[in-house]
Amino acid sequence: MTVLGIETSCDETAAAVVRRHANGRGEILSNVVLSQVDDHAIYGGVVPEIAARAHIANLDGVIRRAMEEAELGYHELDVVAATAGPGLIGGVIVGLMTAKAIAFAADKPLVAVNHLEAHALTVRLTDTVAFPYLLLLVSGGHTQFVQVNGVGSYERLGTTIDDALGEAFDKTAKLLGLPYPGGPEVEKAAHRGDPKRFAFPRPLAGRPGLDMSFAGLKTAVRTQAEKIQPVSEQDIADICASFQQAAADVVGDRAHRALTRFTQEFPQTPPVLVVAGGVAANARIRAVLTQAAEQAGATMIAPPPALCTDNAAMIAWAGAERFAFGYSDPMDTGPRPRWPLDETALPILGEGRKGAKV
Ligand code: KG4
Ligand code: ZN
Repeated sequence: MTVLGIETSCDETAAAVVRRHANGRGEILSNVVLSQVDDHAIYGGVVPEIAARAHIANLDGVIRRAMEEAELGYHELDVVAATAGPGLIGGVIVGLMTAKAIAFAADKPLVAVNHLEAHALTVRLTDTVAFPYLLLLVSGGHTQFVQVNGVGSYERLGTTIDDALGEAFDKTAKLLGLPYPGGPEVEKAAHRGDPKRFAFPRPLAGRPGLDMSFAGLKTAVRTQAEKIQPVSEQDIADICASFQQAAADVVGDRAHRALTRFTQEFPQTPPVLVVAGGVAANARIRAVLTQAAEQAGATMIAPPPALCTDNAAMIAWAGAERFAFGYSDPMDTGPRPRWPLDETALPILGEGRKGAKV
């Protein structure tokens, strides 16, 4: 099955062609990502109106390139998939309408993909991972532990009660004067810093449950930075390293707890912890998760960093998995700016609101 995927929910205009073989194995034929970072950088965050206009300007060319690199014509596709939410409504409309137009013109089925489900299933594109598995989804708008029972079947076990982890990275970068997007910049600066210089709080660590909190950590970073004004290069590096370590400790603590719960629930299943979303590109976060998994007798698997940050290969793959499962969507499917992965989970502040990054 060959699927064209389209992603426009935030600040990447992306198109990809992915193949799902009969044995469930995945193959990426093309994966084109056009970042709008330069368009938004001077504002220090994503401006929804600018994002939507840039998607309109660039999407056709990005799709054309993805098809050319895959060396395929539209008639050779089996499915057209696009992100239908959650995300910035203007961008989602652009991608979904374009997908509908291609599906209609080429007479192919449409699959409307939940962006979070795409992050959740990406690992099955690159690795052989069976259901159920435990997922830590850490992006700019979401931070949650999810039990992935199967395609379309997700149970949220815990979530941030305030800021998403990526948001905390971005805000820390912003207040230290580092360029946008902040996550990779904080990681880079942290390499030169001392993670022990500042004792930042580890909110909720050790407490029962699987919820997380990062707002207090961000405030502690601000207070500390204000205390030592003007900050030197070394101060910035030390703050970044100390912040990253505190964030990683919180995530590691929760992951260990989540794995214990998962193992109790599925004693017969070899436990696998999958990490996905933009923050999964962070080497320190990966390291604490690997350690937590080892301690719990589990395996940690992370997709390659380029498939952790937003891309369309993951959308195409989710489209393939859904279509193989028997799902497709009608032409009047609408965009969903809010679309929780687990529709039964109670909404919590800071949860399910991808896009509000500025
Ligand atoms: O999944 P993603 O590309 O977009 C959303 O769906 O939100 O995640 C973007 C987030 C941003 O907050 C970005 O700063 C963060 O992931 N991020 C990182 C790293 N690379 C991206 N955070 C920490 N370390 C990184 N290396
Ligand atoms: Zn994402």
